Amino acid sequence: MGFPPLTTVAHQWMATHLSPGQQVVDATAGNGHDTVFLAQQVGTSGHVTAFDVQAPACAATRRRLASANVSDRVTVVHAGHETMRNHVEAPIHAAMFNLGYLPRHDHTRITHPDTTVAALNAACALMTEGGLITVLAYRGHDGGPEEAQRVHDWIDARVDTLRILQSRTYSAGPDAPLLWGIQVPAA
Ligand SMILES: C[S@@+](CC[C@H](N)C(=O)[O-])C[C@H]1O[C@@H](n2cnc3c(N)ncnc32)[C@H](O)[C@@H]1O
Repeated sequence: MGFPPLTTVAHQWMATHLSPGQQVVDATAGNGHDTVFLAQQVGTSGHVTAFDVQAPACAATRRRLASANVSDRVTVVHAGHETMRNHVEAPIHAAMFNLGYLPRHDHTRITHPDTTVAALNAACALMTEGGLITVLAYRGHDGGPEEAQRVHDWIDARVDTLRILQSRTYSAGPDAPLLWGIQVPAA
């Protein structure tokens, strides 16, 4: 039996954490898979704010939300996740980061370490006690290893203030993706 993809593992972690009525963030909307998943978890009384810098990603996410009949509880923001605090009010209960490029589009339009770290700091500032952040970082594209290292360093510098739930990868290779679950305690 094979291992589930890390995108599925991130959903499993989130599913055990989230409840209907909560406010959450999808930091990288992409094709909208995570946005739809989050919208289903928080239900009609919850809210998801989803960010992406690319118009085709925002359009794809809106289409996927409409197909799943969950558009009513989602705001898709065509802006970088580093502007999160301009668009979302505290408290949020979770934030998902699925880094890298938009599949089947321009592979040079990637997330970048400085803006990723700025968005992680913003998510922490908005997060309720015990809130969960998942970060899935890919290392097979140009810039991917450096970004994963920055996320690792960001976590490492906060081990006293954040609770690192799990990180796992199913291959030991240097290109293997990495998944972190980060629980944010009270400020
Ligand atoms: C791997 S994809 C996300 C996949 C998505 N979560 C899904 O379920 O389909 C990464 C996305 O991050 C977006 N991105 C890049 N820089 C960003 C930024 N500063 N803020 C928000 N999104 C960004 C890219 O445009 C791309 O669509």
